[in-house]
Amino acid sequence: MNLKIKDHSNLYDPAHSGQETGYLKNTQRVLKKNYLEDKETIPNLYPWIDESDVAFAQFFQEVTKTPQSSLFIETIKAISSSTRDKETAKKYAQVFTPSDVALFTAYRSLRGIRDSKVFDPCVGHGSLLIAAGCYLAIQQGFRGEKLLKALYGYEIVSATREIALVKIIEGLSPWLSGITKQKASTILRKQILRGDFLLGKIPKNCVVIANPPYKEEKGKGNAWIPFVEKLLSSNKVVKLSLILPLSICSAKRTSFLRTLMMDKFKTILAFHHDTRPRPLFPNVEQRITILTAEREGDKKYVTTEYLSHSAKNRAVIWKAPSISLSYDLCQKTFPKLKHDDLPFFSNCSDTPKANSYVTI
Ligand SMILES: C[S@@+](CC[C@H](N)C(=O)[O-])C[C@H]1O[C@@H](n2cnc3c(N)ncnc32)[C@H](O)[C@@H]1O
Repeated sequence: MNLKIKDHSNLYDPAHSGQETGYLKNTQRVLKKNYLEDKETIPNLYPWIDESDVAFAQFFQEVTKTPQSSLFIETIKAISSSTRDKETAKKYAQVFTPSDVALFTAYRSLRGIRDSKVFDPCVGHGSLLIAAGCYLAIQQGFRGEKLLKALYGYEIVSATREIALVKIIEGLSPWLSGITKQKASTILRKQILRGDFLLGKIPKNCVVIANPPYKEEKGKGNAWIPFVEKLLSSNKVVKLSLILPLSICSAKRTSFLRTLMMDKFKTILAFHHDTRPRPLFPNVEQRITILTAEREGDKKYVTTEYLSHSAKNRAVIWKAPSISLSYDLCQKTFPKLKHDDLPFFSNCSDTPKANSYVTI
């Protein structure tokens, strides 16, 4: 087969393209060499159809079939589209996660984990904790007090935290029968605290799920960076899923975070999203990466390309082709590869039909 390797430098964040050119050439060289050496076994060599994403598509369908699903999906949808006090929203970068992103992030963080606390360091109105609660209820049979006692977090704005307490109870109510709202609220109040996470404590043996505030502060850097540094530095975190600007993967100023993640965690999954034709968060022109990192497992880095998807076929985005790379290939950046530009990828990918998924 005639391998046409194109110039990939346009795949990278233009602001940082200078740093990445050398890395990319090297990656292409290795991919091409491996391909030519072992054409026959390529599906085994390149597991870009990551099993977890296939399984997510199934989970997604299961969720939408669950009779209770409309309630928590509606609750999360209402949160992400709710009108908020503009000044507070701006000051604290309050952008809330849409329902499918919340479910995917919860799924990625909790899959394969048993009896762990879920911790959101910046709860907002509770979307990620509701999605995590939904996963625990549907996949692991958590009910009542056990379900509530799994949810932990911080929120700096008092009024926002109050709304979160109500919304979490509302969204998870199908699995809270036998518990009064007051009792549920008493339990959550002890675990979801009002306060500054940067000064707070992380619960022992927890799974972190977070969408930290993105806000550039003059002379200080961006607000999400210290959040991530604190989470990655803690030995109490067994696994984490973070919704972050794409610059976590490529910017020079975040290279210390990448190093920290590679030192402390083994399997790292990166899920990249472009803003065209539609951004991941409606009306937020931000390229986003959902990063999942686990302390256990093989030492590997699995990445997707930048994704394009139409609004109608939104659910398809979750089954993105991925490629597994060794840590050696990720010294300076967490790379982003585009399978269309490497012809042999397209021969092996198994892109799902748009209509085989339910859009929510
Ligand atoms: C981007 S929003 C995400 C909220 C929610 N986790 C979600 O995904 O919908 C970030 C939240 O963090 C809160 N926040 C900002 N700085 C904080 C801090 N230092 N400690 C705790 N919460 C903080 C904001 O008030 C906001 O509600």
